[in-house]
Amino acid sequence: MSLPQPGILERIPRAARYLSFDLRDGERVAEALRALAKAADGKACVVGLGEPALGALGHSIEGLRPFPRYFGQGFEVPSTQTALWCWLRGDDRGELVLRSLEIQRLLAGGFDIAGVTDAFRYGTGRDLTGYEDGTENPKGRKAVAAAVAESPKTGMRGSSFVAVQQWVHDLDRFNAMPAKQQDETIGRRKRDNKELADAPASAHVKRTAQESFHPEAFVLRRSMPWADASGAGFVFVAFGRSLDAFEAQLKRMAGAEDGIADALFTFTKPVTGAYFWCPPLRNRRLDLRAIGL
Ligand code: HEM
Repeated sequence: MSLPQPGILERIPRAARYLSFDLRDGERVAEALRALAKAADGKACVVGLGEPALGALGHSIEGLRPFPRYFGQGFEVPSTQTALWCWLRGDDRGELVLRSLEIQRLLAGGFDIAGVTDAFRYGTGRDLTGYEDGTENPKGRKAVAAAVAESPKTGMRGSSFVAVQQWVHDLDRFNAMPAKQQDETIGRRKRDNKELADAPASAHVKRTAQESFHPEAFVLRRSMPWADASGAGFVFVAFGRSLDAFEAQLKRMAGAEDGIADALFTFTKPVTGAYFWCPPLRNRRLDLRAIGL
């Protein structure tokens, strides 16, 4: 029986570490992924494979494609694909550090570490602006329907796609805005998380309102704040049964439909953007049959 990686459906953990990897040696990718498949349980470590890794194996996954790029007045949405993504989840930062070293060791023949980002849960699941994130996430069966593929193809049922973007906030700029402008940027009231009835069209939740798309564009967001000596922001992570819903939202945020860009861009910017395919679990290990392993 094929199941989704359980970390996708669970609430965000207290602490996390995101690892991304570039290809090192295409000849050793299969061996490295076989080792990872045994070690990653999909709960403490959620795994996503990027096009470069699949290409090295001579495989592709229908629906996995390059991350789009957008430009607008004063902002850029970059596409920075990497070969492999691991989301380490836990309570204990020390454990996450040791587990990340272990994963780097397992993968060393085929992959080089390209990025490490430490993230955390803030309060009940807030962004560092103070706004609650995830309120409009689908729940229960609807969450599964939004995030998990139903394909009859071998090794595809139970898999997901994920969009990952690291955003860097200018929190001084955001905090200098009057409360009303902050609320109109997000489209909700920070004080009580109520949606603003009269939010401007640029408000983030107006741009991304999932029911307003045709077809409706539901995703399962599992984003977390990050911070280190270089700054702070949000690691935006959205799982989908395909990449279509995320892509429709991003397009509208960038103003590519109607020229109205998301007000988020006034205080934060994405510095990475990548898509991955998250294989299902079978017999408690990653099921890589869809890519011939
Ligand atoms: C710095 C980056 C971002 C921040 C801080 C942020 C924050 C938020 C907040 C506070 C909410 C309102 C509460 C909720 O329903 O979760 C929200 C809603 C939402 N965001 Fe974001 N978000 C970011 C980026 C994105 C991106 C890149 C997308 C997709 C392309 C996106 C898609 C959504 C969706 C679909 C909703 C729910 C809309 C609805 O149906 O009401 N967000 N976000």
